[in-house]
Amino acid sequence: MSDAPHTPIAAADVPRHVGIIMDGNGRWAASRGLPRVEGHRRGVETLRRTIRAAGEIGIKFITIFSFSAENWSRPASEVGELMGLLRRFIRNDLAELHKSGVRVRIIGERDELEPDIARLLTEAEELTKGNTNLTLVVAFNYGSRQEIVRGVHRAMKAVAEGRLKADDITADTFSGFLDAPDIPDPDLIIRTSGEQRLSNFLLWQAAYSEFVFVPTFWPDFDRAALEAAIGEFRQRERRFGGLVAKTGS
Ligand code: IPE
Ligand code: IPE
Ligand code: MG
Repeated sequence: MSDAPHTPIAAADVPRHVGIIMDGNGRWAASRGLPRVEGHRRGVETLRRTIRAAGEIGIKFITIFSFSAENWSRPASEVGELMGLLRRFIRNDLAELHKSGVRVRIIGERDELEPDIARLLTEAEELTKGNTNLTLVVAFNYGSRQEIVRGVHRAMKAVAEGRLKADDITADTFSGFLDAPDIPDPDLIIRTSGEQRLSNFLLWQAAYSEFVFVPTFWPDFDRAALEAAIGEFRQRERRFGGLVAKTGS
């Protein structure tokens, strides 16, 4: 399906940054009588296709929610399988991503991760840091409230060290203390599986994002579904508090 012919979307109409909450792997598997991990495996294939499609469509930044700070509360076996899939994804796909000009960035708490995973994440960022086609931001062990608290700690440290005055903390300057301060806010956030909530994803950055919730389980998401979500985004009037429509970024 992802390779089906399609009408190109004009570059000016493409959201610069798309966030994706990849949800519904477990239900996809359960509906087929398969173990949940099979849904996660298929989810990785969907991710590969989606990154390729995003690059072709002309999206410049894509942030994917791949493991939340709250997902540790799942059974240890499922957590272990998800960690294994991340390891395999980086080992198998990093060279290809690099060749395609993808820059990989990671947001989330890294200190709590197993050392080999933390090393792989750093390796992916280091290898691809000069790439400019598409930035893939991986939210891993990520929770937005936790990220904001990390930002508060960084800002307080800057104040304590005399690099920042407390009075100079504004919404703009505070953004600079979040995990990826150089990445623009998402224009569009897509969540698959029919759930209509953020589940602690990019709370600060989503202040003026458009949301598109699709019923499809993540393993069944494809290029046509991505283009349909962008089509819906293009119908929205973004006002940013004013009276007239404005373009986002
Ligand atoms: C999304 O699918 C993947 C992760 C959260 C890691 P789920 O595993 O949440 O699948 P459902 O929501 O139970 O169907
Ligand atoms: C959000 O999905 C996290 C990821 C997609 C990685 P969840 O499936 O964990 O969210 P809830 O529990 O349904 O809110
Ligand atoms: Mg879920």
